[in-house]
Amino acid sequence: MKRLTILAALSVAGLALAEPVDLNKGKQIAENMCASCHAADGNSAIATYPKLAGQHASFIFRETLAIKKGERTTGAAATMTPMVQNLSDDDIRNVAAYYAKQNPKAGEANPNENPTLGARIYRGGLPDKKVPACMACHGPSGAGTLGGGTAVNAFPRLGGQHASYVVTQLKAYANGERTSPNSMMEDVAKRMSEEDMKAVGNFIQGLK
Ligand code: HEC
Ligand code: HEC
Repeated sequence: MKRLTILAALSVAGLALAEPVDLNKGKQIAENMCASCHAADGNSAIATYPKLAGQHASFIFRETLAIKKGERTTGAAATMTPMVQNLSDDDIRNVAAYYAKQNPKAGEANPNENPTLGARIYRGGLPDKKVPACMACHGPSGAGTLGGGTAVNAFPRLGGQHASYVVTQLKAYANGERTSPNSMMEDVAKRMSEEDMKAVGNFIQGLK
């Protein structure tokens, strides 16, 4: 009873993550249904498939649901949609919690792809174009933040993500194919040139 009361109090506060999860079930789902693309430990080696290791469970949950429902169609998301049709919300919560607990491995930035510009954008933004520092929301090491558990102040992890995936997503925000809470990412991405996107993507790939 006591536990129920605490859980009820937490969900009133908007902390959906307080719901109990089963990491063993999550691991099984990851191995059977996600590993072929995202790898069993979430450190996918193929740039088409985003790394999920260490990503926030609430973000994995939301995006998996959006891809399942066909609401997110960016990149090759359509290849994932049929794979997750039979997963219940609880299944998705469990697999999200499992991937959130895996250790993210950083990639390497390519020294020939504008690492200085990338670092400058990530840490300080581009004031003349009114591009804010990515770090302000995604954190100095790219770990992002859970915020208070609501979509408006929670920022996904970016550190170590594949550079080309970052660029694809920035383009998708800029052209309206992907939307974000309060249009936060649309406003950022629309002000960036392709060169800016590539430079910051390269920097993020090496960020840890
Ligand atoms: C057939 C390959 C495939 C399988 C299997 C697959 N995915 Fe995906 N997934 C993708 C692709 C491709 C994307 C990137 C789509 C894009 O470019 O926007 C993606 C994106 C995601 C994202 C968004 C990540 C981000 O950073 O925005 C999450 C979360 C996700 N997948 C979770 C899962 C989970 C959980 C499973 C297993 C239950 C799974 N996927 C199975 C191909 C797959
Ligand atoms: C005002 C806060 C804010 C700033 C500044 C910001 N972001 Fe974001 N970013 C977000 C939010 C919120 C999301 C989640 C959006 C969603 O739900 O699709 C996000 C998502 C992303 C994603 C998709 C991650 C994934 O795994 O799917 C990428 C890539 C990204 N941001 C890159 C950047 C870069 C690069 C910069 C700096 C040029 C930047 N962001 C600056 C708030 C911000």
